[in-house]
Parts: sequence; structure tokens; C-alpha cells
Amino acid sequence: MARRLAAAGSPTDRSVAIERSPSPWWQTAVVYQVYLRSFADGNGDGVGDLAGLRSRLPYLAWLGVDALWINPHYPSGGADGGYDIVDYRAVDPEYGDVGDLEDLVADARRLGLRVVLDVVPNHTSDRHRWFQAALADADSPEAARYHFAPPSDEPPNNWQSLFGGPAWSRTPDGRWYLHLFAPEQPDLNWRDPAVAADFEQTLRFWLDRGVSGFRVDVAYGLFKDAGLRDNPGSYSPTLFGHGPEQAMTWNQPEVHDVWRQWRAICDEYPDTMLVGEVCLADLEQVALYSRPDEMHQSFSFRLLKSPWDTAAFADGVQSALDAFGRVGAPVSWVLGNHDKDRQVTRFGGGALGTARARAAALLMLALPGSPYVYAGDELGLPQATVPDEVKRDPIFFRSGGARAGRDGCRVPMPWNDTPGVGFSPEESADPWLPVPSGWDRYAVSRQARDGGSVLTLYRRALALRAAHPALGSGQATVCTQDDVLTVTCVSGAETVRCVLNMGSGTVLVGSPGSVLLASTTRVRQSAGSVALPADSAVWLVES
Ligand code: GLC
Ligand code: CA
Repeated sequence: MARRLAAAGSPTDRSVAIERSPSPWWQTAVVYQVYLRSFADGNGDGVGDLAGLRSRLPYLAWLGVDALWINPHYPSGGADGGYDIVDYRAVDPEYGDVGDLEDLVADARRLGLRVVLDVVPNHTSDRHRWFQAALADADSPEAARYHFAPPSDEPPNNWQSLFGGPAWSRTPDGRWYLHLFAPEQPDLNWRDPAVAADFEQTLRFWLDRGVSGFRVDVAYGLFKDAGLRDNPGSYSPTLFGHGPEQAMTWNQPEVHDVWRQWRAICDEYPDTMLVGEVCLADLEQVALYSRPDEMHQSFSFRLLKSPWDTAAFADGVQSALDAFGRVGAPVSWVLGNHDKDRQVTRFGGGALGTARARAAALLMLALPGSPYVYAGDELGLPQATVPDEVKRDPIFFRSGGARAGRDGCRVPMPWNDTPGVGFSPEESADPWLPVPSGWDRYAVSRQARDGGSVLTLYRRALALRAAHPALGSGQATVCTQDDVLTVTCVSGAETVRCVLNMGSGTVLVGSPGSVLLASTTRVRQSAGSVALPADSAVWLVES
């Protein structure tokens, strides 16, 4: 049964959209997420860096993406993969320097690629000079920029760290301080105007160097309940995101003023954008972060967090189209990132998981809006098994090993089929996380030569998406029948349907148009129908 989207022409209509040429670039951009530490090592110390990334830009242009978002590149305490920042206006010497970043941006532009940086305003590193000054003097102006409470036996409230354990730790002189993530990530107090003023300088510092915007970490945080009252319930990591049970820590109304200020700053720099990480269960609330005067996008994580299930996927697509359509923002679609198990593994592993990940890619790349592709997903990488003794993720340690942590989606990219997979130059130091055995099987060099590889599928899909406005820029209608999910995308005279078979048997798709692309070679077209095997997807064009 087809569910139609909101009527065209109504003031809240999502047709705001999304004709490719007149749109600002970010409305339909395919954004590639680079996990800098693991992408490419230029100098042979075993850690990915800006020089390595720069040398691989031609690959990204060849693949056909529009922009790249780089995970944090700043000097960091190293407690949370770079999300504990020591200096917001510098580059970690492990990755290079500001000149390298400028060179990267310049090279990228020449190749038609935009560079988006990660910015982390909810918390600093405990090694940040502000927190160090606050530790040294409880009455310093810097202390007012964090959340401290006087010494007492019990923490000020019942808030939990997302990484496990209480959200309050003690300073050496017995005060409590708030950290919604690791203890090395003290939360900033955005009620102190000095915090906003400093971040404005940080944004301008990088915008002046030609970057095209920012991915905003924990954009639903920043402000906390003014009275620091207890949360009514506890955090469950299996939810789509936070809800009323965590109402005192997240999604305070004041946070939207920050995004209005940041939007005004970006508006001074043509063609820049903000995309927010907003992990709230209610997508309508998430979409409010991308109202016309706030951020340009806020991630829709529904597909990232949905099991392989027709109703869950259909709802993930429809609810995002509805919620973001209501505020006139494009949907930013996410199937993978550095915080979640790889799709191949989430969807069942092995050949089954790979078939499903291929099919899911065709779904995501057909949808109107801006899809995010996490580095390595275009190679069909599975979640790697990282031995406990070399794990880095604080989630593993703070949960006492109960949660595996996120290292398995952060291991080095395989570039070629040598033993070191071409991550570092020959004869280099060991990589910072081990390359899993057999990783060469996924190497870019192999897959680029293989017409049936996941990489070839992504590359073809991206080329077709760029050539067909119905893909990525169409009006989308979602319908399901049994275990078949169909998204019909229309632009002008062209209609492309993405049909995804999530069931266990082959289905016949009637009056199909012609096959533009299929996720498997086992799709059969005959007069009037297409046979679509289980766990596969197809793009069908009618014009
Ligand atoms: C975001 C990042 C995650 C990080 C956390 C704390 O969720 O994606 O990697 O651990 O923020 O900064
Ligand atoms: Ca390096």
C-alpha cells in the first residue's frame, strides 16, 4: 500500500527539494566519511594522516563522491579517537599541520571535492588549557566554562556517562565535574558566553582556510538542565536515541540559539554547511535542528540503527522524509559510521551480509537528499575482530569489556593486496590498529578490476545518481508489499524505482521499466517482469 508524502505545494512541502542544478550542493551531496587515523598513512609511522589522505583524493574523485568529512584532526588527549580536543585551531602533529590541511582543501577543490571538518563543542579534552586552569583554580574564569560542583559524598545527580558509569568524576581537590562521555572529556558550560565566543573564532579560523563546513559532534548536547535535576530514567544504548528518560541532559531548548548563531556565521561564507549529530529518538525533534535558520542537515540514523526488516526500513525512510520535509531540509542518510558495527556484519555477515549491504546501498543512493558513505563501506568491509589487548575505545574499557566497543569499524583501509594492504609506505611501522588477516581480499586495487565487486557497484551507482535527477533529487514515495520495499523517485518526466527484496525468496516485479542497476547479477528481466532474488535490490527506470 502506497503512503504518499505531504501534498506538493503546501508550505511544509519537502519539494523544497531538490532539483540537482539549482540546489545548493549540500542538498544532494554524497559525503564520504574519512576516519583519518585509518585512511592512509603518508609518512610511515603507522597512523593515517593528511598527507596520506591527500594522496588518495584522486580515488575519491574516481569513486564519484561530492565531499569528504574528516573525523577530528585536532591535537587530542587520545582518550576517544580524537573527540577529546586539546586545541581547536591546530592540527595534531601526528596528522600534519595547518598548511597540510590547506593543501588538502586546495587539492580537493581542484578535483571537485569539498572538505567538511568535525567540530566538537560539547566537551573539551581534560588537557585543554581551560580545564587545566580550572583544575588549578576553582575560582578562575575557566572554571566557569565547565560544570563543577563542590566536594560532597555523592555526585550532584544521577546522570550516566554514555560510555558507562556515572557522568561525574572528582578533581584532585575533591570537586565533582561533569562528563557525559569519558572522564577525559569534561562538558563545557554553554551558559558562559566565553564558550560561544571562542567557538565562533574556531569556526572562522577553519572557514577562512576554505573548508566547506562542519559536522557538529553531539549537537543535541551543549546545554544541560539549568538546575541539573535528576534524569527520570536511565540510558539504554539500544534505543534509536535519547528520549524523555534523559530529558535533563539533552535537547534543551537553548541549544537551538547556538545553531542560529553558527548558521549566521556560515552564511557569511558562501557554499558552506553544518550537519549535526543529533541522537534523539524522536525524528521530529532531530529535524528541528535543521530548520531554515539552523544547521543545514541533521543526520537521520534510522537506517543505521534498523535491523534487516522491511517495516523498520520503510519506516526509517518514510519518517525521515516526513520529518525533514516538514522543516524543508534534505535528509542526510546514514548506513554506516565510525560508531557502529559495519553493515555487512550487522546484516548477517559473510555472503548474506554482503548481499544485503549491497542492496541497502542502492536504496540509500536512490533516496532524495544527502547520503553519507563511511570509508570502507564501499569495499564491503565487515566488522573486524580486534583483540582486546590492542583495543582503544573507551566504551570497551568503561563497560568492563561488556560492550565490544567501536575499534572493529576503525581498522586500516586496504588499498592493495600486499601484506600491509598499502595502508603505509613499505617498510613502515606497524599500523596503530592491526590489519586483520585476509584484509587484502577487500583491497581497492582488487575490487577496482572486478566488475562484480562492491566497489564497482558503488562507483556505478554514484555515476548513475549523478546522471539521473530522479536519483538523489526526486520526489520519493515509499510503499511495501510483504517483504518488498519500493521507493519510487520522480523528477520531471523520469521515474526510477528502487525495489528492495528483504524477504527470503525471489519475487517477481511487474511492469518494471528497464534495469538501470542491480545489486546482484542474479536479477533476471523478461518481458513485463523482473525476477529479484532475496536480499537484493534493483533500480528500474521509466521515462
Ligand atoms: C560522537 C562521536 C563519537 C564520540 C562522541 C563523543 O557520538 O561520533 O565517536 O565518541 O561523540 O565525542
Ligand atoms: Ca602517518
